[in-house]
Amino acid sequence: MDNEPVRDPLDRVAIALDTADRATFHRWCEQFGPRVGMLKVGLEAFLRWGHEAVGAARRHARGVFLDLKLHDIPNTVKGAVTAARASGVDLLTVHASGGSSMLEAANRAAGDELGILAVTVLTHLDEGELEGLDLPGSSEARARRWARLAEEAGCAGAVCSPLEVATLRENLALPFLLVTPGIRLATAERQADDQQRIATPGQALRAGADLLVVGRPVTRAPDPDAVLQEIAREIEDALTPG
Ligand code: C5P
Repeated sequence: MDNEPVRDPLDRVAIALDTADRATFHRWCEQFGPRVGMLKVGLEAFLRWGHEAVGAARRHARGVFLDLKLHDIPNTVKGAVTAARASGVDLLTVHASGGSSMLEAANRAAGDELGILAVTVLTHLDEGELEGLDLPGSSEARARRWARLAEEAGCAGAVCSPLEVATLRENLALPFLLVTPGIRLATAERQADDQQRIATPGQALRAGADLLVVGRPVTRAPDPDAVLQEIAREIEDALTPG
């Protein structure tokens, strides 16, 4: 993606449709789908409305990202990926920590039309929590290792914290997609929420991210259009050479 000219800067954005309200979910599909590269359907929406949620996102968006973070034995993951492929989504997440055989099974089942993204280290896990899981070392080193595993297994890309993008980008060949949540605007008043390891859209893209996952900064904004315009400007600046 890095070598492509910037067409619509918002192609680089996936809006996270995280809500418990069905009418809001459908309204967001209509409102944001035509504006951005992808709509992201997560666990909450999928468990509430299943294929209705995927169908609504597909009707309005250029691409659909199904964020179910699968983690199971290879045969079960293969079946789940086959079902996701039939639903027509473009990207699907699995946990890199499921290991090579699970990642390979997911990629075989995905074929060419569905991209498998491996979730590296979840952003809430600090070194203390990793130690508690008997996973010593920094989250950065672990993300690097798991992203490499995902690349070797044939994944389309990986999900990582924006603070880890640069080190992952250095170690991985293009066109491996790096997708980052934890995006916050520098100008926005910092809301108290659960994202700790954050970056602005410009910082994440300059570090080598391909796709930015943005939820609450847009969906909960009093004026989402103004926020999208600000994100578009930042993306354009970050991707314009010189
Ligand atoms: O609202 P916010 O911009 O924080 O939304 C971030 C989205 O990215 C949520 O849907 C969340 O599930 C997802 N995500 C994340 N951290 C990860 C993986 C996914 O925040 N490590």
